[in-house]
Amino acid sequence: MTSREGVIVRQLNEGACRTYLVASAGTREAALVDPVLASTERYLQVLREGRWQLRWVIDTHTHADHLSGCRLLADRTGAEYAMHRKGGARHISTRLTDGSALKVGDLVLEAIETPGHTRDSLTLKVPGRVLTGDWLFIGGAGRTDLPGGDPGEHWDSLTRVIPSLDGSTVVLPGHDYNGRTDSVLRDERRTNAHLQERSRDEYVAWLSAAAEPTPVWMIETLRANNAGPIDPALRLAPPDAAAVCAVGPVPRVPQVSADEVKRRLDSEGPAGLLLLDVRQPEEYTGELGHVPGAVLVPLPELRARVDEIAAHRPATVITICRSGDRSARAAAILRDAGFVNVLNMTGGTLAWRDRGFPVER
Ligand SMILES: [Fe+2]
Repeated sequence: MTSREGVIVRQLNEGACRTYLVASAGTREAALVDPVLASTERYLQVLREGRWQLRWVIDTHTHADHLSGCRLLADRTGAEYAMHRKGGARHISTRLTDGSALKVGDLVLEAIETPGHTRDSLTLKVPGRVLTGDWLFIGGAGRTDLPGGDPGEHWDSLTRVIPSLDGSTVVLPGHDYNGRTDSVLRDERRTNAHLQERSRDEYVAWLSAAAEPTPVWMIETLRANNAGPIDPALRLAPPDAAAVCAVGPVPRVPQVSADEVKRRLDSEGPAGLLLLDVRQPEEYTGELGHVPGAVLVPLPELRARVDEIAAHRPATVITICRSGDRSARAAAILRDAGFVNVLNMTGGTLAWRDRGFPVER
């Protein structure tokens, strides 16, 4: 939670998808930005416990990766549902344009049109901070190859808006797939690949090269969000969907097959190896189970908990998830943290199970 001049900004979710409570400490009025439908009851509890009056629910853009909780929260609380003027959701009650101001008690959220990830992408300016949705991530940006995305428009909005923001502005993104919470704009200007000097044509060519087809479940999610989903039990994303809004391929890290891991365990035993499972706890103990001896550190927590496994730095670390995507990101995090021998198990626990190897639950 960050508090400045009576403004409270609190991130409410676990995992890669971020929902922010923005509130006025003085008047107890609040807005929820990018609420996730499945977490509606939890948000209502947070509002009750904090005695917050919900004035606004806001989607920074039409989401393709998760179902929006805006309509249901608006129905349940009487809050206004605000979105970009081009937003397709049927239940929007307030349409925002560049410079629109949303009052939350004595605090004002200013909307900035930042298209590119989608044509209806907004960034919300709060004193000292920007809630960037999927326009700008820490060390990256939202992909521009989903329906409504446009790399040229993304370049236009980055080059128009970024110079207008103070370097000390705190960046609060709509996602982070590596467990980071915030960043400072001056650091992003220096290190974020999307903010490096490129012509519009170069930028478009760079992002177009990373373009991939949109999965069917994302098209269904866009459609559902336009219709206004109200069933918190509805699930459209597959459980292993990872980093779906980020640009670019899964990081390139050395791979090891499930067969090779099994062979090595059988011939040399577990000494000198750390099997690191980076899924969620319910997956680790769930139906698929986990590779015997694998230690659980969920990907979103890995960066913060890397000290717990520091003693294994000389070992070979094998990262494992369900299908091999999240574990590739985990391997990249460990490599950045100074682990030298890190291998990603190709195909994850699914491949391990498909070979009939034993699992623990
Ligand atoms: Fe998105």
